[in-house]
Amino acid sequence: MEMLKVNQISKIYGSKLTYHALAGIDLTVEEGEFVGIMGPSGSGKTTLLNLIATIDSPTTGEITIGGQNPHKLKKNALAKFRRRELGFVFQDFNLLQTLTVAENIVLPLTLDGTNLKTMKTKLTEIAGKLGIEGILDKRTYEISGGQAQRAAIARSIIHRPKLLLADEPTGNLDSKAAKDVMTTLESLNRNDRATMLLVTHDAVAASYCNRVVFIKDGKLYSEIHRGEQRQAFFQKIIDTLSLLGGDAHDLSPIHLS
Ligand SMILES: Nc1ncnc2c1ncn2[C@@H]1O[C@H](COP(=O)(O)OP(=O)(O)O)[C@@H](O)[C@H]1O
Ligand SMILES: [Mg+2]
Repeated sequence: MEMLKVNQISKIYGSKLTYHALAGIDLTVEEGEFVGIMGPSGSGKTTLLNLIATIDSPTTGEITIGGQNPHKLKKNALAKFRRRELGFVFQDFNLLQTLTVAENIVLPLTLDGTNLKTMKTKLTEIAGKLGIEGILDKRTYEISGGQAQRAAIARSIIHRPKLLLADEPTGNLDSKAAKDVMTTLESLNRNDRATMLLVTHDAVAASYCNRVVFIKDGKLYSEIHRGEQRQAFFQKIIDTLSLLGGDAHDLSPIHLS
């Protein structure tokens, strides 16, 4: 089943001085796929993710998620759609500091009026899956970056969204924590058939995906599929990035701008 269909999407920013951030993007993601999006900085990755996340609207083209076009929904229905059908993971975790890890994780259920017993059952299940049972009562400043991101992932999937969207989820992590987060995402994809879209400039992170789509100057450049070996896929990603040019091969997580 098609979980996401992006059909001839374009995005033009500005009114007088216009900028064509995306031009005629097509992308289909099947249920249970784990797809990476890579490309040089400024190529339109975040723009594409924001359009799929319904944070922004396309200038032309259509997006459907689970057969529904969220951009056609009215404000309240759209808010509900976003809350129920989508999950988000960000580079800087976006956990609320005034809440415990457990309270952060159940937030989507709290907002949806789920009863306490169901909430506790789901919390225990998800925390076990992500290996964060031991930190549930801690505050966000008492845990490591890798733990914080795993808590954020737990929050993003506890309501079983149709689609999980992650923009540079390993961008603020050291390589060990990044690996933990990627193996977590990989096992959620394998065991729970979670459908996931990951924007990253990190070739190691991308090598955990089933497929990587490359964009350049707002257009699809190429896509490659993972075979059995993650190491071989990693090498293919590196090769494609060097063909792509730009700063796509800059693997440093430190940005000056
Ligand atoms: N809100 C905006 N207004 C105007 N231009 C924007 C806006 N957001 C992004 N852009 C431009 O669109 C292009 C693509 O940006 P973005 O999607 O953030 O790229 P990436 O995530 O691949 O680095 C860039 O040239 C950027 O400057
Ligand atoms: Mg970006």
